[in-house]
This record gives sequence, structure tokens and C-alpha cells, in this order.
Amino acid sequence: MSAVNGGLSAERVAALLEQERESYRRNHAGSERVHREAVHLLGGVPFHWVNAYAVPFPLAISQADGAHLVDVDGNPYHDFGLSGTAAMGGHHGSVLREIIEQDVPGPGVVTGWTTEDAGPIGAQLAQRYGLERWELTLSATEANRAAIRLARAITGRPDLIAFRGAYHGSLEELHPTAPGSAPGIGAAVRMLRFNDPEGLAGALANERVAAVIVEPALTNGGGVALPDPEFVTALNVLTKRHGTLLIVDETQSGAAGYRGASHELGIEPDFLTLGKSLAAGLPIGALGMREAHADAVVRVLEASPGGRWTLAGYGATVTAGPLTLRAARTYLTEVMTPEAYDRMNQLSQELSVRLAQTIARFDLPWRVGTLGAILGLSFSEEPIRDGDAARAPDPVPGLRDYLFIALLNRGVLVGNLGGYIVVSPTNTERDIDAVVHAFDETLRCLRE
Ligand SMILES: Cc1ncc(COP(=O)(O)O)c(C=O)c1O
Repeated sequence: MSAVNGGLSAERVAALLEQERESYRRNHAGSERVHREAVHLLGGVPFHWVNAYAVPFPLAISQADGAHLVDVDGNPYHDFGLSGTAAMGGHHGSVLREIIEQDVPGPGVVTGWTTEDAGPIGAQLAQRYGLERWELTLSATEANRAAIRLARAITGRPDLIAFRGAYHGSLEELHPTAPGSAPGIGAAVRMLRFNDPEGLAGALANERVAAVIVEPALTNGGGVALPDPEFVTALNVLTKRHGTLLIVDETQSGAAGYRGASHELGIEPDFLTLGKSLAAGLPIGALGMREAHADAVVRVLEASPGGRWTLAGYGATVTAGPLTLRAARTYLTEVMTPEAYDRMNQLSQELSVRLAQTIARFDLPWRVGTLGAILGLSFSEEPIRDGDAARAPDPVPGLRDYLFIALLNRGVLVGNLGGYIVVSPTNTERDIDAVVHAFDETLRCLRE
């Protein structure tokens, strides 16, 4: 028997994983039918990521409300995955229903014009994130694409710096080894280690770098990697010194608080990008910029090949329609209030302490990192400091998959990586008790 990581046995994890898969098959006949019958969809799903979960076939959801889901078989779930923060405020079926019933007959769904909601959204974003000018996009990926493109246009420089283990969406130049990539697509990108100020200094020195794109903290792997104060200083000071723009991607780290993680951690963005939950779940992204860059951006747009602000290399016809704008305004002003962030963070702190106590009780060398509403589990007692550690393979094959499916079978959904939990302001103490209970049972099985 092989035993590592607190004495866990690889054979036991493999056997438990198979047991949980079997139990999933037994209790999800309806989900299996939905999957099987979608014969004209690639892989039986509307979008290939849906097949990425560690289950034999994906859940088919029939109801979503607050922080709870029900599948077509009638199984209820506490949803602590919240679509990777895209549903961070909770599932807002009721908010959207009200908007659709009352407001859609008004300005409509998509018109290609603006509405009275647009200005107040800009004002909300400016007040929260401290950047004066904003543009909305269709997704966070597109906000990042726009930021990078504009940074290159403004600085006249070719290169981009990003950090291993971060995620900025499905930008082709940041996924140069994906099948079908154009030759040389990633040639202008330097991938550095997060939390390495010297590496950053070296890479900026050639004065060819248009932008550094960074997540304030890494949460897209296992655990949470927070930036060291020296790294924060390097990001702020060195980018300014070398005339490089600092793009801070707050798409996920925005869960840290009302003003985002960059405010909490002292990072000073030139451009800031957002997305995911911003329009209560409707597709949206946002790009904020300092006043100092706004004129240069306008000049870029005016000079774009389509003339009059068109064909600048980003944008989509269905961007920021009236329905999306109304949802975003409602979400920002009525759902994600300062009180909502306080509640969410207080619950996530409580959950993090209780999960750590459970881990200690089972004598496992694991750690729970937190960034506001996000909790990340890593399989080491040492804090995670960079993306290489965050994306390290499981110490026992299948461990994260086991945790994911065992929790699911006990009524708790977490992020696909088995340790990535998102708390919502709609959660109650009972939801927190439910996760702790399910986690306790899941670890008990591992230890038996
Ligand atoms: C930090 C970060 N940036 C950008 C994105 C891209 O978001 P989307 O896929 O909604 O465009 C993600 C998605 O997970 C993200 O976590």
C-alpha cells in the first residue's frame, strides 16, 4: 500500500472515488437522460466546459435560487461553486424575472443604443474601484483582450508580461500551446513567476513591455496565493518606472471586497478588468482606466480602421443591451452592497476556520486559504506563493476529484477543483453547517 500526504492511501482514494461515481450514477438518472438525449450537441452538452467536472455525466439543473440548486432528479444542493464567482451574489432568478417582466417591454433586450442605466453603472464602478473611465464588454475575456490591445496601441510596444497560474480568459496569446494555435501566437508574452519581484524587474528592463497583466491574488488553482508586499511594490513602482501599463484583472478577486482586492492589497492599476457576476449572471465584462489614459484610448478608437470608434479589434453587437444594463445597475446598487460583502466575508471567515479545524481533527497536512468570499484548499501546510505550487498535481492521484464528487453526493457543490469554495451573501449559517458536515464525512471516509 502506498501512503503519502498525512498517511493517505492511493488505493483507498481510488476505491472511494469509484464508489462515489457509482453512487452518482444511481442518483442522477434524470441528468444522465438529459446528457444522453442531447445527441446533436457536441459531447452532449451546450458548452464543452460542462464536461470538465469529475462526474460520469454533468448535472442537469432545474432550479436555482439564492445559494441553492436543484437538479432534474430533485436532488438539492448548497451551491458553493457559484459558477466560479459568476453567480457570486447568489442565483438571481427572481431579480432577473422582475426585470424581465417589468423592464424589458421598456427599452428592450438589445438595440445597439444606450439607456438611462448606463451612466449610473459607470458611476458605481468609478466610485468602487477608483478609476475614472469605464467601458463595458461582453465578457471578462474580452475586457482583458481590449486592455492588452489598448495598452499596446497607447505605448507602441509589443510585449506582455503575465504570471504562471493566473487565468485571464480564453485569450489565444495566453494559451499558445492549445491545439490549433497559430504559430508564434504567444511569442510576445513572457510568463513569470508570481511573487518574484526580481524576475519582474529583469523582464521589464528592456523597455519593450506594453503591459503587465496580473490577478491581485491567484485563486484559479488549488489554494490562494496572496502577493507579498514586496511584489505589490514591484508591480506598482517598476511598471511606472518603465512606462509599462499595469492591467489588474479583478474578475475573480473582486470577491475580496466592495472595492476589490487591489484596493485591499495596495495594487495601483492603470487598467482594471471585471466580469462574471456583474450583471446578475447575464454576459458582461468591464474595463476601467485612469483618467490619464482615457484621452489616449479615445485617440486609438478614433483612429480605428472602421472610423468613428469602430473595428478597433474588440467589441460585439450584443454588448451592453438594455436588459444587461438594467441587471448590472440593479446588481451593483441593490444586491452587491457594502453590507452584502461584509456578510459574505464574515461567513467565509467562519467557514475557513471551521474547515481548518476539521482538517486538523483528521490530522491532514492541508491548508485553507481565503480571499474574501473565496476559499481554496491546498494539500500542504505551507502557504501557496505562486502558480506552480497552486497547480501542483494531487499528492495522491484523484484526491481532488474524490473531494469534489463526495461533497456533491452529500449535497454540497464546490468549484471543479475540489477545494475552491465561493460564499455568497445569500448563504445562511445553516449552509455553512452543511458544508462543514459534508466535509467532515468526506474526510472521515478517507481516514476509515
Ligand atoms: C481572473 C479571471 N479573468 C478572466 C476570466 C475570464 O472570464 P470569462 O470566461 O467569463 O470571460 C476568468 C474566468 O474564470 C478569471 O478567473
